[in-house]
Amino acid sequence: MEPTAAAEPTATATAGPGYAEAEIGFESLDEEVRIDDVPVEGALPEWLRGSLIRTGPAKFEVGEQRMRHWFDGLAMLYRFGFADGRVSYANRFLGSKAKRTADERGEIAYAEFATDPCRSLFKRMFSVFSPQLSDNANVNLVELGERFVAMTETPIPVQFDPETLATAGVAWEVPGELTTAHPHLDRDSGGMLNYAAKLGPRNRYRFFLLGPDGAEPEIRASLPTREPAYMHSFGLTERWIVLAEFPFVVNPLQLALAGRPYIENYRWKPELGTRFTLVDRSSGEATGPFMTDACFGFHHVNAYEDDDGRVVADICTFEDPEVIESLYLDRLRQGAPIPKPSLTRFVIDPEGGGIDYEQLVPDGLDLPRINYGRCNERPYRYVWGAGLAPGEGGGFFDRIVAVDIEERATRSWHEPHCYPGEPVFVAEPGAEEENQGVLLSVVLDAAAGTSFLLVLDASDLSEIARARAPHHIPFGFHGQFSRRA
Ligand SMILES: [Fe+2]
Repeated sequence: MEPTAAAEPTATATAGPGYAEAEIGFESLDEEVRIDDVPVEGALPEWLRGSLIRTGPAKFEVGEQRMRHWFDGLAMLYRFGFADGRVSYANRFLGSKAKRTADERGEIAYAEFATDPCRSLFKRMFSVFSPQLSDNANVNLVELGERFVAMTETPIPVQFDPETLATAGVAWEVPGELTTAHPHLDRDSGGMLNYAAKLGPRNRYRFFLLGPDGAEPEIRASLPTREPAYMHSFGLTERWIVLAEFPFVVNPLQLALAGRPYIENYRWKPELGTRFTLVDRSSGEATGPFMTDACFGFHHVNAYEDDDGRVVADICTFEDPEVIESLYLDRLRQGAPIPKPSLTRFVIDPEGGGIDYEQLVPDGLDLPRINYGRCNERPYRYVWGAGLAPGEGGGFFDRIVAVDIEERATRSWHEPHCYPGEPVFVAEPGAEEENQGVLLSVVLDAAAGTSFLLVLDASDLSEIARARAPHHIPFGFHGQFSRRA
């Protein structure tokens, strides 16, 4: 890949203050459709068969009440199906109890990330002693064995039918009160490794394994913590689990009693620094901590051990958690810029105890995807994500960025008035090269007021095809490609 922006069709960025044109991306979608053939421009590769299934926040008000934050919206499931060069499209609300109860009562029924409807003391006391956790699984989904499961950071994974998008019920038990929507595949067992925070008189970070057909988690590691850090994902090498505690922490007692929306109980304590711990996957024993400068992040990109046994952990980082503040809907709808992420490489020496970090490229990205099946836990060269216009001003994610880590080079795809989401990499069957395949990204076309599914050649970001949805798809977070669905 050349260190140029050759795939960028236009040089004039439309980002910066004024991206309020993208406001429609934060407006509710109520329509549910099922279409066998949507209009396609371009020719899809013959080998592309399967479905891109996504979840995301889609309903931002219930009755007179409004959600406050992008992360709060009630979840919608989406499926773009690919077969014989054609594209089908379906969308359907996740039938969570959060959605069903909201429909029945005409009000927000459960506390979300930054919206808490339990304002009265009575309701609050009730919710402390009988936790009413939301199952609004709008962050990510996982295909585990035969099951498709939508997830958020409460311990209520919601299973659904990938064909009809009908909701089936709670998928499995989670050994804690908080979890992540970014589990890792455990290659040995074909199961899933995830994180949970067990809160109580003694708080613990737990890592648990769930078999492909399992319903009961097996706890593989348990680490004490006084004030748990906000945890959105973690890294994995062949030997280690990589736990990064950014100093954005919560006192669990406050969480239960302070009466603030969930995320507003967390406090930024940069004086604590960022604390890495390596957990041996087979013994569960912890090594560390490895202390470095304070930063914040949602997404681990990848991790691996180098030839000297050092752990390389790449993470999308921010200077601080201001990004969470920037994602309140009032600010987003006004077009206020969001902070720029960096692509940061941390290198940890488990023997000597040292830790270093560096920024890999000048312009970062978030919502990162790699060739996961081939490269997770292993040395890798390419990462793709959503990026912001270079320079000052910023805006909202308005480009797809590809990073060649070996060459420290980036290139991007950008089109005026278009706001792409996470680019999901799908490898071409039998591919020899790591970046041989396509990227699938749902793009909001603010000028048209609708969204389209963009198919790019992952190796150079040239456009292969686009398939237009009949409506706007509110900005979402994550999805997965399944060859089975
Ligand atoms: Fe995420």
